[in-house]
Amino acid sequence: NVPAAVIVAIDGPAGTGKSSTSKAVAAKLGLGYLDTGAQYRAITWWMLDNGIDVTDPVAIADAAGKPAIVSGTDPAAPTISVDGVDVAGPIRTQEVTSKVSAVSAVPEVRARITELQRTIAATAEPGIVVEGRDIGTTVLPDADLKIFLTASAAARAARRNGELGGKGGDLAATQAALVQRDAADSGRKTSPLAKAEDAVEVDTTELTLDQVIECVVTLVEEKRQAR
Ligand code: DC
Repeated sequence: NVPAAVIVAIDGPAGTGKSSTSKAVAAKLGLGYLDTGAQYRAITWWMLDNGIDVTDPVAIADAAGKPAIVSGTDPAAPTISVDGVDVAGPIRTQEVTSKVSAVSAVPEVRARITELQRTIAATAEPGIVVEGRDIGTTVLPDADLKIFLTASAAARAARRNGELGGKGGDLAATQAALVQRDAADSGRKTSPLAKAEDAVEVDTTELTLDQVIECVVTLVEEKRQAR
């Protein structure tokens, strides 16, 4: 009698601590970890590298099926590659960050990446933490636990600049860029950034990372015991 895999969906806007929280929770509980934002960044990087006009949704849709995207799900060392090339570094550039919302709004891109995500989650033993924007609402609506992380725009901008090690530049500019990306991600037609009805919302503005991790770990353990 093998227990079913545990699937945890963690959604929310940029800078709420999704990645750090998801990785740490997965490591603590011995689960896999999938960064779905990295997949959207990877397909965006490939489009830019191949000269696809990323302001043209038809060109994006035509190319959406071409790159082979592979995600490694070890929370201690997650990997992302496109056509065999390790793109963990290049997907974090300003160029990719500024174009990823437009590319990820195209339905053909979402269909492609969503299928990939479902395949990875379906084969994850003994389970996986999947972080993104539409995991609880669209990708894995039957997840065992759904978390929606929020934080004030000011706190999110400060964290993002901290992650960039002082290279984020002006705090006001970082905040403006984050708010603009969230508006694009929340406003798109296909599978926007949204809180699932049955998600637990955690406002991380006043919490340390350790507190957020502990809160999510406790929620997962409660779910596991209830099964
Ligand atoms: O989590 P991140 O900042 O690396 O995500 C980059 C972009 O990818 C984000 O601005 C929107 C898109 N994305 C998405 O549309 N759906 C997801 N599940 C995850 C990310």
